[in-house]
Amino acid sequence: MNASIPLAAWLESGAQGRSIGRVSLVGAGPGDPDLLTVKALRRLQQADVVVYDNLVGDGILDLIPPHVERIYVGKEASNHSVPQDEISLLVIAKAQAGLQVVRLKGGDPFVFGRGGEELSTITAAGVPVEVVPGITAALGACAQTGIPLTHRDHSQSAIFVTGHRKDGSYALDWPMLARPFQTVVIYMGVGALAGIVEQLVAHGLVPSTPVALVRNATRSDQQTVVGTLETIADVAARNRVQAPALIIVGDVVSLYDEHQAECLRKVAAS
Ligand SMILES: C[S@@+](CC[C@H](N)C(=O)[O-])C[C@H]1O[C@@H](n2cnc3c(N)ncnc32)[C@H](O)[C@@H]1O
Repeated sequence: MNASIPLAAWLESGAQGRSIGRVSLVGAGPGDPDLLTVKALRRLQQADVVVYDNLVGDGILDLIPPHVERIYVGKEASNHSVPQDEISLLVIAKAQAGLQVVRLKGGDPFVFGRGGEELSTITAAGVPVEVVPGITAALGACAQTGIPLTHRDHSQSAIFVTGHRKDGSYALDWPMLARPFQTVVIYMGVGALAGIVEQLVAHGLVPSTPVALVRNATRSDQQTVVGTLETIADVAARNRVQAPALIIVGDVVSLYDEHQAECLRKVAAS
């Protein structure tokens, strides 16, 4: 692949006549290898090459057979180590060379994972592609902390939002997010935590609304801290909570119990 050729031209010049492989956009889940789906594991075992991101845990990479080529294309917030176009070109090139390609992403490919963009590009190139869903971070974090996303006494709906936009800007529908009796899970928002809690209070949530931060959910180094809209920025600073973490806002967080969460973690790890 020549990364200097524009995407459309490169796709047009595509590898006609060669037997074509397949791309599987696979969700790796939040980190615990036991949370991979059976289909995801099967695809890893069948792969010729695995192209993976930084949120894919070591335990999952250990499940890739040793002969399989691994290519790291990880990105961190505002540090895109491999541009999106180049990642798509890479997986298309590998599939056009006849290989079974697994594009492995943290969580679920279609939840803040750019899976939609990659799917469009791969489809446009005429390469067979499938999507294998994964457990998104919010589900992993809630399962391991004992915080239910919905609960008949506390929350009627759950909303997943991202603190980051494609252009790097930060704008959310605050009146919608600040409604009571719902759970809001914010991905990629920890760096903007102070601004987020300020906006939620300014738009009507009471300052005593419970908030949890869960970092590295389902991994051995999972970190959970809880507070309220009023206190959580200080709690986060004191405990040095950093990405990758989720912000969970809503009355369901009042159900968090440290002892119960520890029991959940121990059983899940056994
Ligand atoms: C680019 S998004 C990818 C989300 C992913 N596709 C998913 O479905 O979970 C990255 C953000 O997801 C969240 N995240 C991913 N894995 C996480 C984990 N194990 N624990 C807590 N947050 C996580 C963090 O907010 C992180 O900044």
